Amino acid sequence: MTDRVIPLADLRYAARIPVVPADAPRPDGLLADRRDRPLHDLRISVTDRCNFRCSYCMPKEVFDSQYRFLPQSSLLSFEEIVRLAKVFVAHGVRKLRLTGGEPLLRRQVETLVAMLGELRTPDGQPLDLTLTTNGSLLARKAEALARAGLKRVTVSLDGLDDAVFRRMNDVDFPVADVLAGIDAAAAAGLGPIKVNMVVKRGTNDQEILPMARRFRGTPVVLRFIEYMDVGSSNGWRMDEVLPSAEVVRRIAAEHPLLPLEAAAAGETAQRWRYADGQGEVGVISSVTQAFCHSCNRARLSTEGKLFLCLFASEGHDLRALLRSGRSDDELAAAVGGIWQGRDDRYSELRASLPGDDSAAPRRVEMSYIGG
Ligand code: GTP
Ligand code: 5AD
Ligand code: SF4
Ligand code: SF4
Repeated sequence: MTDRVIPLADLRYAARIPVVPADAPRPDGLLADRRDRPLHDLRISVTDRCNFRCSYCMPKEVFDSQYRFLPQSSLLSFEEIVRLAKVFVAHGVRKLRLTGGEPLLRRQVETLVAMLGELRTPDGQPLDLTLTTNGSLLARKAEALARAGLKRVTVSLDGLDDAVFRRMNDVDFPVADVLAGIDAAAAAGLGPIKVNMVVKRGTNDQEILPMARRFRGTPVVLRFIEYMDVGSSNGWRMDEVLPSAEVVRRIAAEHPLLPLEAAAAGETAQRWRYADGQGEVGVISSVTQAFCHSCNRARLSTEGKLFLCLFASEGHDLRALLRSGRSDDELAAAVGGIWQGRDDRYSELRASLPGDDSAAPRRVEMSYIGG
């Protein structure tokens, strides 16, 4: 079969029908891409919908009442997701992260958690099973998720001041409800909890210190993320990026920080600990210090397209293989071939790309492939 690019029925993003190599070796967990990067982490988007409209991700003007979200029939079923996850685990994946959109909007997501919780690595270990959420439904769902076998959660929270937070989510959602969600997750044992704050200079950077103070001395690991030029609709500008070095400088001026070693290869965050032993903070510097050289993450969209980079404009249509009756061995061969051909490193190349990319293909939205 030759590689074909086919437009989707709704012209969302181009997707290739993957080649199924006839002579692919069986998965042995040692898969590497063209830059010698292993496959370790699979992020599974379970819905492209969200009840927030954060301007850096789903700006209201684009994601309005006219926006066509995926129809139910396009979504991978839980059985299809688990079948694919198994293939990835055979290839070496050790961490599964459910994302969205907002994953807790997917009906019965705890059933999927329970199904994924049954998976084991080839040497019999359970997977690191986690979920990224905006926290709005967490107070209601934490207990059920923990019971289903979820290990931990990461909560997005862009400020503590209620007015700032309502502006950031742009749907007037109160910060108190997210904080209650974090407490519920802690009570349900979904730790260590991570809290991710996207920093936009001039919009919520005044919240850096209040956030640091709030989570200092607690088991919650707070991480600051540089605002990224992901997708094609957030109107990103470099002058709205606050470099992580500045975040660290501001916190350290109040509470001295010491660098920590990375806990795992390919980690997104640089970690710092409070010199007085009151816990740690992290910074994710995708813009000022790209970490593509160790990027071991693959992303599966809600409708079963595999994306090899957050900044990709084209995916690999695994759903087409699933629904055309391919065997698990054939799926594994296809995924192996795709990963071996991977050369993506967008963030490292960003500076050398032309400033005007209006002629470039539309990049995939983060709400579609997941943070
Ligand atoms: P932990 O295992 O909990 O440490 O997860 P993680 O840091 O791998 O994942 P998380 O989803 O918490 O990532 C936090 C944020 O980092 C995301 O929401 C993105 O903004 C950014 N990020 C994660 N992975 C990538 C990546 O591969 N490339 C880029 N450019 N940014 C990423
Ligand atoms: N820049 C940085 N992070 C982003 N996210 C979404 N859009 C962006 C962006 N433009 C991430 C945030 C959020 C998660 C769901 O997706 O980390 O917490
Ligand atoms: Fe929703 Fe998260 Fe995107 Fe905000 S960043 S719009 S909460 S998916
Ligand atoms: Fe990985 Fe692409 Fe992010 Fe680089 S830009 S770290 S290759 S997802």
